[in-house]
Amino acid sequence: MTGIKELRDVVDRFRAEERKAATAVNLVPSENRLSPLAQLPLSTDYYNRYFFNDALDPGFWQFRGGQEVAEIQTELARGHLSRLSRAPHVNERPISGLSAMMMALAGLGGKPGGTVVSVGAESGGHYATAGMARRLGFESATVPVAHGQVDEQRLGQLLRERTPQLLYLDLQNSRHELEVSRVAELIKEYSPSTLLHVDCSHTMGLILGSALGNPLDAGADTMGGSTHKTFPGPHKGVLFTRSPELHQRLKDAQFTMLSSHHFAETLSLGLAAAEFHHFGQAYAEQVIANARLFSKLLAADGFDVAADENGHATSTHQVWVKIGDAERTDRISQALYEHGIRVNVQVDLPGLPGPALRLGVNELTFTGGREAAVHALAEEFGNARAGVRRDGDGARRVCEQSGPPFYFAEFS
Ligand SMILES: Cc1ncc(COP(=O)(O)O)c(C=O)c1O
Repeated sequence: MTGIKELRDVVDRFRAEERKAATAVNLVPSENRLSPLAQLPLSTDYYNRYFFNDALDPGFWQFRGGQEVAEIQTELARGHLSRLSRAPHVNERPISGLSAMMMALAGLGGKPGGTVVSVGAESGGHYATAGMARRLGFESATVPVAHGQVDEQRLGQLLRERTPQLLYLDLQNSRHELEVSRVAELIKEYSPSTLLHVDCSHTMGLILGSALGNPLDAGADTMGGSTHKTFPGPHKGVLFTRSPELHQRLKDAQFTMLSSHHFAETLSLGLAAAEFHHFGQAYAEQVIANARLFSKLLAADGFDVAADENGHATSTHQVWVKIGDAERTDRISQALYEHGIRVNVQVDLPGLPGPALRLGVNELTFTGGREAAVHALAEEFGNARAGVRRDGDGARRVCEQSGPPFYFAEFS
């Protein structure tokens, strides 16, 4: 049995790791850090509560615990997310990107047996999409994407021959912005009944910050995804549309797929969105500038940075670096970790077989990393490769070069 002493040890471990995490440099592109303001609801009683009364119907307070802060969800969260996305209809109930994906597939995929087309995992699509579509009773087909461009020939063929009910564009691994407007044109030409959904989990913060184009402006019917990758929010998901009918379809699917939407996290999402209005664009532009500078500095130092034929390495937050075989990749990952710099190793990046580092500068940027910090970071990569610095202080040296964070520090 685990006794009180062991539990105290666990608490001590948590505290020690918290101190380390607070000063670590995290380069996992699927993660970010909550601002002190957005963190606030997570340690309140609202973490324990359900909240169902979205319409604030005075006769529908079956669960009363969230009553006094209801408008933080219904007005602050939904209102700010709606303004950021320029979508009048927002569903803030999904609890993650996959949860939003499930609702979008179920709500928009039409009758079982129909075809859902998504992006092939080998060209950067999410690993789960095709399998989830099949589990929900759809036929699944995939299209390749290269440099952010959907393969027009293959898509045209699928649209003509299969008349899919839904085209679900889901880029998990991409250094390029997804080109949506040409896809919308092809749908109009070959299969106007096909719905277009863009799952922008990875680039959500760059889109809501207007550094990348809004898929809804480019002709997507709906969009959505995670709120904790480039968007600096809690682990949640969201779905947007300009169509009241599609909003209702998504809501109907959500109603039977999700009960607890994690109320405290949803309040946190509202605060993150409200805060994002003040700095979202500057942050999103800085993320892309930092990713480009980081690519350039690493390449100049001899690292094998993935780039197009013209040398262009990234138009998103992601930077991919090939280190060598699994052992060498793990060695540099471990060396950086010992310096408080946390990287992400992937083994199936499109066009880059075998292990590689998939890096994201979103969290570093959110916490105040700009040009000087990126220079320091690139230097630490060089140090880790050469094994020259053994003081474990790499993250500290990077943080010392950071400026003020984008978020409101006064709520710390
Ligand atoms: C396109 C896409 N969809 C869905 C997901 C899953 O998101 P989550 O981990 O929040 O469930 C991801 C995660 O990387 C993603 O990139």
